[in-house]
Amino acid sequence: MDESKSIKLNNGLTMPKVGLGVWKSSNEETSNMVATAMENGYRLFDTAKQYGNEAAVGAGLTSGMQKTGLNRSDLFLTTKIFNGDQGNYDKLREAVNGQLKRLQTDYVDLLLLHWPVFDKYTESWRALEDIYHDGQAKAIGVCNFNVEHLTNLLDHARIKPMVNQIEFNPRIHQPDTVAFCQGNAIQLEAWSPLGNGQLLSEPVIKKIADDHDKSVAQVELRWELQQGFVVIPKSTHAERMRENMDVFNFTLTPDEMEAIAELDQEKHSIWYDKFKWSGNPDGVDDYIAKTNAF
Ligand SMILES: NC(=O)c1ccc[n+]([C@@H]2O[C@H](COP(=O)([O-])OP(=O)(O)OC[C@H]3O[C@@H](n4cnc5c(N)ncnc54)[C@H](OP(=O)(O)O)[C@@H]3O)[C@@H](O)[C@H]2O)c1
Repeated sequence: MDESKSIKLNNGLTMPKVGLGVWKSSNEETSNMVATAMENGYRLFDTAKQYGNEAAVGAGLTSGMQKTGLNRSDLFLTTKIFNGDQGNYDKLREAVNGQLKRLQTDYVDLLLLHWPVFDKYTESWRALEDIYHDGQAKAIGVCNFNVEHLTNLLDHARIKPMVNQIEFNPRIHQPDTVAFCQGNAIQLEAWSPLGNGQLLSEPVIKKIADDHDKSVAQVELRWELQQGFVVIPKSTHAERMRENMDVFNFTLTPDEMEAIAELDQEKHSIWYDKFKWSGNPDGVDDYIAKTNAF
């Protein structure tokens, strides 16, 4: 099969289709994970200020480049704006300077607003547009934006987001958001593509995996890729990293795609609804305080 392992964003930037997520990884783990993933063919790395491991990602990138001989321009680095830094132009830009320093780089390939913090994300977007203009980010985008947020953002934006990173796996499909992004050339990226590890013993997927001589994780990633998503599975294990990258040599049939789609429960992670991101002005401080916690 001659399938490209990358896609082009709406500004022409090339983005790998499979990357490594590092949420919930300790600093020590993270630098090893990043370097190991790089040695195993990974070029896309997804972190966030909220994860508390940007410095470890920076160290891992440096050591990975030394081990592999790759250059910074061979890599695709994503980080995200901390909710508490949103809404104030100068504060956000200062925060990004600090993030770049921790990541040991002059630019990120993709800078995302981590959540649509009510009443703050349009001002935050203005800062991201200038960061993009100044070359500190080669692409800019959002996470966890629904149709209402995206419509509002597009009403205010000079630059259309290149990416929307959303929770997406066989249990949660967010069809309205997906259709909106696909209709507006906003690349979709799936977070928790393996359901944060909770979706790996599903019998329907196991049967399909056995039929293809693949693992459940590989079938889930394949199911997401075939719908046009970029995927960023997290793993601390080299063997699993290799497995998660080895998803370009088989194709799920329309019937298999449908059988997996039927597992939808339209259920977000248990912690998701605790964050009042949808618009209660009185809940903003509470929301920021809570989201700072993870
Ligand atoms: N924008 C947002 O709001 C947001 C929110 C959540 C996550 N994210 C991003 O999305 C990334 C991925 O999501 P996630 O970390 O929630 O979870 P995930 O990638 O869905 O699942 C990771 C879990 O699956 C296990 N795993 C990975 N590959 C496996 C394999 N081949 N076989 C068996 N088990 C496997 C991992 O264990 P081991 O590590 O032990 O291998 C880990 O427990 C995050 O790391 C983060 O970068 C973004």
